[in-house]
Amino acid sequence: MRIAIDGPAASGKSTVARLVAEKLDFVYIDTGAMYRALALKAKKAGISFSNADEMAELMSHTYFSLSDSGIILDGSPLGDEIRTREVSLLSSDIAKYSYVRDFLTEQQRTLSKQGNVVMEGRDIGTVVIPEAELKIFLTASAGERARRRVKQLKSSGVEATYDEILAEIERRDLNDSTRSVAPLKAASDAIILDTTGMSIEEVVSRIVSLAEKRQRVHLARSVGFC
Ligand code: CDP
Ligand code: CDP
Repeated sequence: MRIAIDGPAASGKSTVARLVAEKLDFVYIDTGAMYRALALKAKKAGISFSNADEMAELMSHTYFSLSDSGIILDGSPLGDEIRTREVSLLSSDIAKYSYVRDFLTEQQRTLSKQGNVVMEGRDIGTVVIPEAELKIFLTASAGERARRRVKQLKSSGVEATYDEILAEIERRDLNDSTRSVAPLKAASDAIILDTTGMSIEEVVSRIVSLAEKRQRVHLARSVGFC
């Protein structure tokens, strides 16, 4: 079974997807980490994202895989350096290039074949695994998402004002939802969960119960009961 979770920044995708995967004993795959890691790798190599030839050369020696602790890039686990505010904006900039998306989509499809998976990002239900058995689109008001991100940054020792973070989130929302390739949007068959005012536990238990229901239906179909 494949569960696709999409949604805008700070809607709770990573936190919720990780917990759902733990509860169901599924593999958790964070595709945003791949955009972040590639953006940081290109930046460190001094490559402009718009230079298709240089990006192709960089991607030809870029290898993603999975371990129990998450995404591995070129044999090394990803560190906190991909989580900075600067890398958040860089990842949204790199994500608009079709050659980048084609490369990462292919890698993500390969990773999704590892068994039962919960994969989260922006285009999982629409592009990466359109045949996923369960698709969730998480959302929350921009204000609530900015409050969540400020609190999250504070707990990791980074001070940022609500206004700064709200502006960054709105910039990324706009970039992600207006790009021409694979824009952020809910799949037509996704279940939309507005999580404004919902606790993490409430969101997780809602998705787990939807997944269990889908599993029962699939099981019944496979043995010919419906
Ligand atoms: O992955 P994404 O950017 O969508 O969000 P996240 O990093 O999972 O969540 C951003 C912050 O919001 C985290 O600190 C979560 O603990 C928090 N959160 C929350 O307070 N309530 C929710 N329903 C979901 C997430
Ligand atoms: O956790 P947060 O929602 O802040 O971001 P993320 O999921 O780590 O993704 C970082 C950036 O990568 C997003 O702003 C998107 O531009 C891009 N991304 C994408 O285009 N498609 C995906 N499947 C995942 C991420």
